[in-house]
Amino acid sequence: MNIEKPISIKTKRLILRPIVISDLEIIQEYSLDNEWNRFLDFHTKESVKEFVDKAVNSDWKDNARFMISYNKNIIGSVGLYINQKEKHAEIGYSLSKKYWGNGIIPEAVNEIFNYGFNELGLDKIFAQTDLRNLPSQSVMKKMKMVQEGMFRKHVIQKNIRRDVVYYSILKNEWEENKL
Ligand SMILES: CC(C)(COP(=O)(O)OP(=O)(O)OC[C@H]1O[C@@H](n2cnc3c(N)ncnc32)[C@H](O)[C@@H]1OP(=O)(O)O)[C@@H](O)C(=O)NCCC(=O)NCCS
Repeated sequence: MNIEKPISIKTKRLILRPIVISDLEIIQEYSLDNEWNRFLDFHTKESVKEFVDKAVNSDWKDNARFMISYNKNIIGSVGLYINQKEKHAEIGYSLSKKYWGNGIIPEAVNEIFNYGFNELGLDKIFAQTDLRNLPSQSVMKKMKMVQEGMFRKHVIQKNIRRDVVYYSILKNEWEENKL
């Protein structure tokens, strides 16, 4: 796979463009909020910095992380952790609280599925989330992802063991069910 980092990808309402180091501050601004990060271990300035550093310093072919821009504001991110050998990737997404409930992440994920399957040559995209994170699972269901299973007490978040659910979609399912 020889994939160039794109300059940007447009959807109906959004522009998705690769993350840069100067995005750190805005991500910290919307993510250091107790409601926003209630299901995530992403609740200190340092953990957000680690996330941004990792994304910026990774090869695009391994970690393709986009920032979401809406009306010229940076409001969230969406990206793929890519396993080239297996031709699958884990998708992750998040959005500033002000913009929740407007179908922004489904719109971004739709385009990332398109990018992952058609440009990166992936066969499968999966996602995982805390069992209690119903908004995230709602996105997965809207995207016609199929629940693969629940991993009991699988991760430690904020010092407590949590159940995690996995969902996925295969390339042929995506092609049949495109939004
Ligand atoms: C999960 C998340 C990305 C969803 O993005 P979104 O663009 O709001 O997605 P949708 O508009 O499709 O809404 C999804 C669900 O969010 C919930 N929701 C909507 N508006 C909400 C609000 N104002 N407050 C709380 N939850 C809300 C609803 O359950 C909705 O599902 P429904 O449409 O079936 O009712 C967003 O809530 C978020 O960033 N949460 C914090 C970070 C996070 O948990 N990321 C996922 C990690 S796996």
